[in-house]
Amino acid sequence: MAVLDILQFGDDILREKSTEVADFNEELWELLDDMAETMYEAGGVGLAAPQVGVLKRVVVIDTDDDHGLLELINPVIIEKSGSQTGYESCLSLPGKTGICTRPNFVRVKALDRNGVERIYEGKELLARCFCHEIDHLDGILYPDRAERMLTPEEYKDYMES
Ligand code: NI
Repeated sequence: MAVLDILQFGDDILREKSTEVADFNEELWELLDDMAETMYEAGGVGLAAPQVGVLKRVVVIDTDDDHGLLELINPVIIEKSGSQTGYESCLSLPGKTGICTRPNFVRVKALDRNGVERIYEGKELLARCFCHEIDHLDGILYPDRAERMLTPEEYKDYMES
């Protein structure tokens, strides 16, 4: 396992559309393991493959709930409902936070590391995370969806709260 470099806002790769995974092999498993390690090392709750320079539809999420580590390959949102407005940030934009409105509940269809189809449901933070990470696979970053970004003073207050 290895901690990978996380691409930062402004890098053109983050704006690319990722391609579907077709091969469920050791190369994919190594990517998943490295992405999880990188996410934990950085203290994030989610990471998408383009953030480590790999344009494949692969996401890892761990919102520190009883779902544990989620690995999503070729994820698709198949249902969403409600709405939530709250803080959102990204490992590719350290030191920044925005206010984003997202569905409060989403159901996601994805393949696991062995290519087996699974359905996941998330509400609140996990729903936000599914939306945020799946957006990365289409080159969308949360500032594109944010009502506004926090000012440096607001960010400081937010981090201290
Ligand atoms: Ni992100």
